[in-house]
Amino acid sequence: MITPDDGSHAVHKRSAAERAVELVASGMIVGLGTGSTARFAIQRIGTLLRERVIGDLVGVPTSVASELEARRQGIPLAAPDWAGPIDLTIDGADEVSPALDLIKGAGGALLREKIVAEASDRLVIVVDQSKQSVVLGTLGPVPVEVLPFGWRSHVGYLESLGAAVRLRTGEDHAPFRTDQGNMILDCTFGPIHDPGTLAMALASRAGILGHGLFLGLATDVVMAGDAGVSHTTRE
Ligand code: A5P
Repeated sequence: MITPDDGSHAVHKRSAAERAVELVASGMIVGLGTGSTARFAIQRIGTLLRERVIGDLVGVPTSVASELEARRQGIPLAAPDWAGPIDLTIDGADEVSPALDLIKGAGGALLREKIVAEASDRLVIVVDQSKQSVVLGTLGPVPVEVLPFGWRSHVGYLESLGAAVRLRTGEDHAPFRTDQGNMILDCTFGPIHDPGTLAMALASRAGILGHGLFLGLATDVVMAGDAGVSHTTRE
């Protein structure tokens, strides 16, 4: 289903996702990303399985939503304590830099997405052209997943790193909860000129369980826009 949030980007998202699925082969363990673009990839994989174009595939979903979509599509799934390695993961992103670094987590699945990404031989990011960013942080916040215990104690720390901090809430205005029951602090830094140092500062604090900077993880970016579909690989 195409939600209003997808807007005019939906056609491009589908094009990018379906191009990426051409990289999926029989016998693979495949990481299944989260979000509206990754969902198109899950649906395409399901179609190819039903048509017996590919087979003997195992999926590793990065969220409850992706797991449900994969089950709807009849994709066999790995146990929750899978060991890896994962051959190939297809996932979306919120920002993609020219160096193939990313901001992810607008959908709240960043922690599981990063676990799957780090376990993957190949991480293929699928985006529409609106996600292109010359400097990470230009388009939106960096989501930071925190343990509910003591979450307010992180606000000052994140502000000291340069962020404007907002607790993510749901449609009911209650704090958003991730699939793990944690909370998200959306941190607006503006353009991030040294994402490596920021990533280390975020990772070094107890209670911060994950953050949306995905540095050096993507091997491929498949981007679709008005000019067609491009496929960039890390050098
Ligand atoms: C999920 O937590 C995110 O990392 C998504 O992958 C990201 O927000 C991209 O989502 P869309 O494909 O819906 O734009």
